[in-house]
Amino acid sequence: MSGDARKTAEGLAYLSGFGNEHGSEAVPGALPHGRNAPQRAPLGLYAEQLSGSAFTEPRASNRRSWLYRIRPSAAHPAFTRTDNGTLRTAPFTETVPGPNRLRWNPLPEPPAGTDFLAGLWTLGGNGDASQRTGIAVHLYHANASMERVFSDADGELLIVPERGGLLLRTEFGLLHVEPGRIALIPRGVRFRVELLDPAPEGGSGARGYVCENYGAPFQLPDLGPIGANGLANARDFLAPVAAYEDVEGPVEVVNKFCGNLWTATYDHSPLDVVAWHGNHVPYVYDLHRFNVIGSISYDHPDPSIFTVLTSPSDTPGLAGVDFVVFAPRWLVGEDTFRPPYFHRNVMSEYMGLIEGAYDAKAEGFVPGGGSLHNMMSAHGPDEETFLRASAAELEPQKIDDGLAFMFETRWPVTATAQAARADHLQRGYDDVWKGLGRHFRPAG
Ligand SMILES: [Fe+2]
Repeated sequence: MSGDARKTAEGLAYLSGFGNEHGSEAVPGALPHGRNAPQRAPLGLYAEQLSGSAFTEPRASNRRSWLYRIRPSAAHPAFTRTDNGTLRTAPFTETVPGPNRLRWNPLPEPPAGTDFLAGLWTLGGNGDASQRTGIAVHLYHANASMERVFSDADGELLIVPERGGLLLRTEFGLLHVEPGRIALIPRGVRFRVELLDPAPEGGSGARGYVCENYGAPFQLPDLGPIGANGLANARDFLAPVAAYEDVEGPVEVVNKFCGNLWTATYDHSPLDVVAWHGNHVPYVYDLHRFNVIGSISYDHPDPSIFTVLTSPSDTPGLAGVDFVVFAPRWLVGEDTFRPPYFHRNVMSEYMGLIEGAYDAKAEGFVPGGGSLHNMMSAHGPDEETFLRASAAELEPQKIDDGLAFMFETRWPVTATAQAARADHLQRGYDDVWKGLGRHFRPAG
């Protein structure tokens, strides 16, 4: 099955552009033209609107799609509560938020038969899902494809694979994502995750990170003086073309709602959308397409220059969360300490590593792991990096041995109990900065 899934994934067609009014039909004639809700939708389909914003939000932030499906979403039995597993939701109150810098190794191996949903493990977060503010930081480690279908009413899911390719079967069609690419599933959209690289017996499966964004949907950041181009280019975001399942028979559908998982057994697959149009759509993006902009004189810009996507808050410039990538780039700054500088930040930073190494940490920060530097906690390069960068010959230098990212959020991140007590939490992370000795020489 996985061989077929990979073949399917690698042969997919897409629609290009961010925030576009896309439209697609899997069967010719399935998409009505000139109106959204004709008296009789084509081909005996049901017309249904999926609203990702209030009806009345300004046009620039208004998000909805029209779906033309075999059965309306309303045709389902009652949901009943099911176990939340290792999934947690804001408000996070299991521990008190702390000023200490934290770092984790990758998640341990999950039990055999763990699918993407069961493999979601919440590290922490902020805000309040029911108030549609804040985020959750999850990791996942899965070794089985989902057979059930999942949707998240609490927020959109930004999936950042670190190991193993995924085929996402969504209501809108199929998406293929690999380490180095990201996928976004909008709030409420149903999907199933199939693994493209099945775990060998007793081996590792798919691994990665998820930012569950309860707030305003991610959008491209404004570019200001950068101009009309740069950073993530809109045309590199790819939405699926319509594809549907015509499956009669029991299908488990799990719904995350205000922090709890609810389940129902449908008598058909809800991935039965034959045509759709709109702008509330899932998408994928290849992080290697990111146009990295930096200094060509001295110093380097704040890491906000690496923002791929931002979820704005009510305060201009203050993001609920920014998704930032540290992609391969040239460093050419003259008389400049080139690694990320020492700093303290009113924002809180969760960092993960997709591949390779990060240029401010010589060791201990490994792919699949992560670090949390909460509001105003002091951080920066370790001693080895500091000494090396302070003495380096400042030739043009290509940083191309790693791909790190950051979820940078407006509020402190409170760890879950499972994250605060995890065996894979690194004890002694503060030692990274212990060796930073004094070099002060008042006499010059
Ligand atoms: Fe930082």
